[in-house]
Order: sequence, then structure tokens, then C-alpha cells
Amino acid sequence: MKKVLIFTVVLCTVFSLLASAQGKIPQFGQDKIPSYFELDDYNHRYPETDTNVEMYMHSYLESPVHSGSVRHGGWIEREYFFPGDPTNPSRPGAVLKYIKAYNHGKLDPDTYTQKTSHEKEQVFFYIAKGVGRVEAGGKKVDLSEGTGVFIPAGLEYQFFNTCPKHYLEAVIIEEEISSDFKPLKEMKTGSYKDHIPHAGMHWAHIGRGIVDGMKFSNPLGVAIVSVDAFDIAQPHMHGPGVEEIWCQLKGKSLLLFGNRLFWQPVGTAFLIPPNFCVPHSSINHTDEPMQWLYLGNRHDPRESRKMEYHNKGWNWE
Ligand SMILES: [Fe+2]
Repeated sequence: MKKVLIFTVVLCTVFSLLASAQGKIPQFGQDKIPSYFELDDYNHRYPETDTNVEMYMHSYLESPVHSGSVRHGGWIEREYFFPGDPTNPSRPGAVLKYIKAYNHGKLDPDTYTQKTSHEKEQVFFYIAKGVGRVEAGGKKVDLSEGTGVFIPAGLEYQFFNTCPKHYLEAVIIEEEISSDFKPLKEMKTGSYKDHIPHAGMHWAHIGRGIVDGMKFSNPLGVAIVSVDAFDIAQPHMHGPGVEEIWCQLKGKSLLLFGNRLFWQPVGTAFLIPPNFCVPHSSINHTDEPMQWLYLGNRHDPRESRKMEYHNKGWNWE
């Protein structure tokens, strides 16, 4: 009961702070001010005006398996998100503007992919479950939960699931390189477990790097973020040019998203609508560990500067 009371007080405080921060109302071509701004006439919900946040949350389990030829050498892939218009998605998940794919991948027990390479694409694999091995450019690296693998454009690679019983599961992120981009020559790997946590960003985010020395074509970074037991992240919004994705890896969180509250279970991801109208805050209302894979792709210089300031300890490429 005491926890419920504290939680209610914290949530009310959050909304008050958010409202007081809205003195300057950003306008992005909307006729009405969204209901998140607590100004006399605008402290109601406006379903006809408010962003439909359900278009920006998606579970890979709601996507069919990619048909036709297998991707990335043989991973069985299902989409969290796919290319679309993040300002006006045609269906849930159609929100990617800058990266090419954000998928869940699975490799059957005791199997391996074909050797493969991509001339114009780079791929980041985050190992969410299982054990295995990756081989590329003469390097062999063991894989387990928490390992990240960065494959630059042009490099041949191959994955192995070395467990006879369990799947090897990964989040697979793909970007297309620009015409003048010079990719790395070697694979980069690492684990969040080898990175020091940095606490305090947005009140409660505890961030860890995953792989050092990656070179993306986009202004893109990935990290593992946790929120400690019974804590709440600062609600905040993002604007045009920002592609930010949170994929739940451990636990089942509460998500404040716009003016709605959702469960976010493992296997679900959300992308923040880039319209400065939808606050997001991940809440760990439990005593259990919670963890997300964070992706920040920042094409807006104002947002980039803000993030540089906040993320002094983070390793952005
Ligand atoms: Fe954010």
C-alpha cells in the first residue's frame, strides 16, 4: 500500500514537472496543442489530435517470418520495425526512416548460417539469448547473452549456434551506408558486462556501452540501459531527426507513452514519435531487474548536442 502511495505521488510530481517545462510550446504544423501541455484549455486528452502511440509499439511476435531467401546467411527473422513514415505510420511498426531494419533473429539449436557479406549494409547483432560463435575476417569470438557483434560493410561472416538444445536469439539492426562512407575492415565485438555503468541520465537510466570502436554510417549509438527496482525515468520527448528505439530485454516494465500507460514485455519495442509531442518514461515498478536495448540515431544537431552533454561518459561513434 505504501509503495502504491509513493508511486502515485511520484507520478503526480512527474506530470507537474512536465507541465511546468512546457512554457514554450513547440509547433510542428498541428492545429491543436496536444493534451500533454497543461495549459488551462488543453489539459484533456484529445484522441483526434494526440499521436496514436500504438503505431509506434510493436512485438516481433506480431510479424510473420521473413519469407523467401533467409537473411544474414540464415537467421530466421521477424520484424520489430520496418521502413515507413515515422510522422504518419501506415501500420504498427512502419516507422523506420534512417536505419534499414530492426529485427528479431533466431538460429536453431546446433546449426549455423551460410558465409555471407553485404556490400552496402552494416549489421549490428545483439545476442539476447543462447550461446554460439561468430567468425569473420579470421577472428573467432564466443557469443553469450550480452554480446554485441558489429559487422562492417563488405566483410564476410558466419554465425554458429553451438548449443544442442536452445535457440540463439539476437536483435538485428541493419543500416545502409552512404556512398562516401569508408567502412572498417574488421569485425568488432564486446559485451555490456565489460562496460562500467553510468547512472543518472533522465533520473533513473543506468547505461552501459556494448561494443567499442564501431563505425556506423549514421550518427548512431547503441547501449544497454536498466532502471533499478522501483524507480522511474524522467519523461521527455524527441523531435524531427531523432530515431530512438527501446527494446525490452529483461522484465516487464510500465511505459508512460504520450498520455497512455502500457505494459512493455520482453519482445516488444517502441520508437518515440519524432514530433516533440509524445513523452516517454520507462518505469520499473517491481523488485526485479529490467533491461532494454537502446538505439539512438540522431540526425538533428540540437538533439545531438543535448545528448553529447548528457552522455559524456558514453561511447558514441
Ligand atoms: Fe528518449
